[in-house]
Amino acid sequence: MLNMIIFGAPGCGKGTQSKLIVDKYKLTHLSTGDLLRSEISSNTELGVIAEKYITKGNLVPDEMIIEILKKAIDNRPDKSNGIILDGFPRTVAQAVALEEMLKNRDMSTVVLIDLHVDNHELISRLLYRGETSGRCDDNLETIKNRLEVYISNTVPVCNFYQNLNKYKAIDGMGTIEEIFNRITLVLARCT
Ligand code: AP5
Ligand code: MG
Repeated sequence: MLNMIIFGAPGCGKGTQSKLIVDKYKLTHLSTGDLLRSEISSNTELGVIAEKYITKGNLVPDEMIIEILKKAIDNRPDKSNGIILDGFPRTVAQAVALEEMLKNRDMSTVVLIDLHVDNHELISRLLYRGETSGRCDDNLETIKNRLEVYISNTVPVCNFYQNLNKYKAIDGMGTIEEIFNRITLVLARCT
């Protein structure tokens, strides 16, 4: 079973690389951003609350997202070879909760892959996507806050996985294929 985390700043390519990884390794893709956006588009109570945070580029509360992720893990299709977490964990409290919830299910994470991309490139990718994505958080003001929140709340998660000996950093600059090749090299050593 391959349970992994794809990690990195907003716009680093988590969603893009997840698609390729899912195809090759037959994993279940669990993107907390996608889960929240689907709550928003279904206009659920959760969605109404989440939208207020997402629009500003702030993180939704830990307890809320941990509950959402737990449900998603328990509802995953049993035929997949594992899970790929995209956008979770985003705080150390989420990382602690994740390791605990997996342990309770006889599962564990194998590796966290951190995609390193220059700030300038992140902003230009997100602004470009914002021209067509319809995402309420793909505008310059919100992007700047997302990047600040990433540094202050999310980067500490790296240290948590370094201490578990599960942390791998990858150069996230270059073409989508180049980056995917780097990821498969890391995964080849984990599986
Ligand atoms: P989330 O949906 O997770 O967004 P994000 O982390 O800000 O990242 P993105 O989805 O924008 O980027 P990505 O890394 O997936 O890159 P992508 O492949 O799309 O979260 C959104 C919000 O939800 C958060 O701000 C928060 O409010 C809330 N939230 C979610 N999870 C949460 C949690 N755990 N706790 C609390 N709150 C949470 O690529 C970006 C663009 O670049 C695309 O257009 C793509 O085509 C392009 N691109 C990709 N790779 C390349 C390349 N190599 N070269 C050129 N362009 C490329
Ligand atoms: Mg994404």
